[in-house]
Order: sequence, then structure tokens, then C-alpha cells
Amino acid sequence: ADPDPLQDFCIADLKSTISVNGFPCKPASNVTSHDFFFDGLTREGETDNSFGSSVTQGNVLAFPGLNTLGISMNRVDIAPGGLNPPHSHPRATESGVVIHGTILVGLITTGNVFYSKTLKAGEMFVVPRGLVHFQMNVGNKKALIITAFNSHLPGAAIVPLNLFGSKPSVPDYVLTKAFQVEQSVIDEIKYKFGG
Ligand code: GLV
Ligand code: MN
Repeated sequence: ADPDPLQDFCIADLKSTISVNGFPCKPASNVTSHDFFFDGLTREGETDNSFGSSVTQGNVLAFPGLNTLGISMNRVDIAPGGLNPPHSHPRATESGVVIHGTILVGLITTGNVFYSKTLKAGEMFVVPRGLVHFQMNVGNKKALIITAFNSHLPGAAIVPLNLFGSKPSVPDYVLTKAFQVEQSVIDEIKYKFGG
């Protein structure tokens, strides 16, 4: 989904104060082999949290060599019973492959149709750009998924955090109306997500 590159590479200079769509390139004379490799996905993520999951991002911010190339990857670790909660990527289609574990993958269209399948090692899925999706570990062992995106910075809007954990918070009268519930329900959910 990102624009095409205009040169072989443009290793991001993340510290530049120049503000452009994307990141400016560091001088080619400073580019080394190091810029084309990234070991950030080698380490298992910490899943000891309320969702029981962890997304380790291999986007342009973590791996500046991806700048302008229109691709990136994540690793998703999920404990048994854990959930990578419903979220959407505004700038990318996502594809993924299960490395190990048993994963329920679900996605919901803009027409509110739900598609899902339980996947095992080696099986792939695709989530069209922008659609809300999740992955849940429905097995009894740790699960690992590697995901790939057609953007160097896909962005992720995590639905519960977006609506109930924003700063400043979304007004309660909007949320009670949106979800057609009492204030107490909104209080409880906001409390959990720090909103
Ligand atoms: C999984 O959905 C991911 O965004 O990496
Ligand atoms: Mn995703």
C-alpha cells in the first residue's frame, strides 16, 4: 500500500528533525551491512499480561532499513487461551503464517460478516487492509505467528484500547450511546483500559 521506492534503498534516519511523509534517508556513505538485517523478532514476547499475548513489531521504527520499501513483519506470541485483541491496520493488508500452536483467526468485514478458521503450523491467513481481526490461541501450548504487511508502518488501531483507553478519553455520553449500555458498564471497561 505504500508508495513505490525512488531509489535502491533509503535507510531511515529516525533522528532527523526534517518532517516528511516517511523518513529521510541516512547518507549512503554511512550505510553498512548492519542496516539490512534485524534480529528483533528472535526473542519471544512477554505474554504475562491481561490479554495473554505480545506483538513484537518489525516495522520501520524498529528496523530503519525497511524505510520506503513498503513491507514489514511482526512476531505474535500468544499464551494458551490468550488473545491478540481485535484491531485494524489503516495502511496495510496483513498476511500471516502460524509457526507453532493452534490459532483461531477471525476477521470482520465492513458489512459485518465474520470469517474465521482454526489454523495449525504452516497454515496462512490474509486480512484485507483496514479490516478488524484477531488471533486467539485455542490450543494448550504456546503459539507463535509471523505476520507480514505491505507497508513499512502499517499502524494498528486496537479496538478496546482505541475506544476505552484513549487520552483524553472519549466522553462517556458517546460511549453509553454507541454501545447502548448504562454508565456503569462504561466505567468498568474504561477502568480496565486506563481511559
Ligand atoms: C497480527 O494481527 C499483527 O498485526 O501482527
Ligand atoms: Mn494485525
